Amino acid sequence: MKAIEIRNKYLNYFKNHGHSIIPSAPLIPENDPSVLFTTAGMQPLVPYLLGEKHPEGTRLTDYQKCLRTNDIDEVGDNRHLTYFEMLGNWSLGDYFKEESIKMSFEFLTKELGIPAEKLSVTCFAGDKDCPRDEVSAESWKRAGIPEERIYFYGKDDNWWIAGEEGPCGPDTEMFYDTGKPPCSKDCQPSCNCGKYVEIWNNVFMEYFKNKDGYSKLAKKNVDTGLGLERMAMLLQGKETPFDTEIFRPVMEKLEELQKEDYIESRRIIAEHLRSSMMIIADGGRPSNIDRGYVLRRLIRRMIRHLNKLQIDLEELSTLIDINVDNLKEMYPELEKNKEIIKSTIIEEKNKFIKTLLHGEREFEKQIKNITNGKIPGEVVFKLYDTYGFPPEVTKDLARRTWIRSRCRKI
Ligand code: ALA
Repeated sequence: MKAIEIRNKYLNYFKNHGHSIIPSAPLIPENDPSVLFTTAGMQPLVPYLLGEKHPEGTRLTDYQKCLRTNDIDEVGDNRHLTYFEMLGNWSLGDYFKEESIKMSFEFLTKELGIPAEKLSVTCFAGDKDCPRDEVSAESWKRAGIPEERIYFYGKDDNWWIAGEEGPCGPDTEMFYDTGKPPCSKDCQPSCNCGKYVEIWNNVFMEYFKNKDGYSKLAKKNVDTGLGLERMAMLLQGKETPFDTEIFRPVMEKLEELQKEDYIESRRIIAEHLRSSMMIIADGGRPSNIDRGYVLRRLIRRMIRHLNKLQIDLEELSTLIDINVDNLKEMYPELEKNKEIIKSTIIEEKNKFIKTLLHGEREFEKQIKNITNGKIPGEVVFKLYDTYGFPPEVTKDLARRTWIRSRCRKI
């Protein structure tokens, strides 16, 4: 099942269960300078989770464009993404645990056709702030998940809050069993071996946290989040999101163009290109601070990896065309903003080439300071401050130079 079909099924299912479909908020939050990008579906809904009346009612659903940059350096492996789409449904003081769980189970098994045997779930184990979530566990049993596939964990795994303060609560998470062999006899959803993949998180938001601790919200809310790319990957039986139709056209073009073969670089390029295009379509522009710096970093890292594959940077325009064509049904804003996306990325590429030429010369001069793969902080700062050399580029270069020098020794 293609990603767009999953999205449509999701929105329709919840519409048929009394939810109003609301549009995705932009990736760049409106009137909220406290966060760089929208990182979860609930973020634009915080005022309503805190009690304000939503014009569309008490049951909402949407797809939300999200960007999370905390794992940016992990992109290139088989799962991390910066941009992703989160499907969500909300109850603003309407239904709570039992109904939420019933709908999730029905959607996964009936609409998406996932066999119930492939599902395991986790619930909050309870602590001094909030009791053990027996209601969710009982609801799962009634829905059709046997006791042996219901796990209880503490706040580290089964409690959700965006940041340090705000609406929060215990959550129940759904995991898909990939069928891989267990890593040990204790293998369970909380372990990271890849057998179990988290697919959906239902947060029962009835608390508010601030520096004084937890208090109860006026209403009991439900906030859920299902990662679209991951679900598409699992339903299509693929090993990574890069093997789905979301990324395949760009990945295939990169395979065709490359003169060096690095899968990690192809993934980084495909991923950062999509994220950059989504940010630009929502009004972001490269700069040296905050949001603009994240975008600059994404574009520059992508360019470095194009270089690594020895792909002519003039091909960027073709890669953008391919992505627009492939993704315009999901995101019409890409087609609408195609020209500005192209000119922004190409202009940034030109700036980066100039920076690289200056910076690499300076970097060569500093090479003698590298003893153990670590480059001194003041050099990193100088390269950044004087030559606009992004620290992660310096880090990459330092690591490569160090590896090269060691190889020579060996
Ligand atoms: N807000 C919850 C999450 O992002 C659903 O996982």
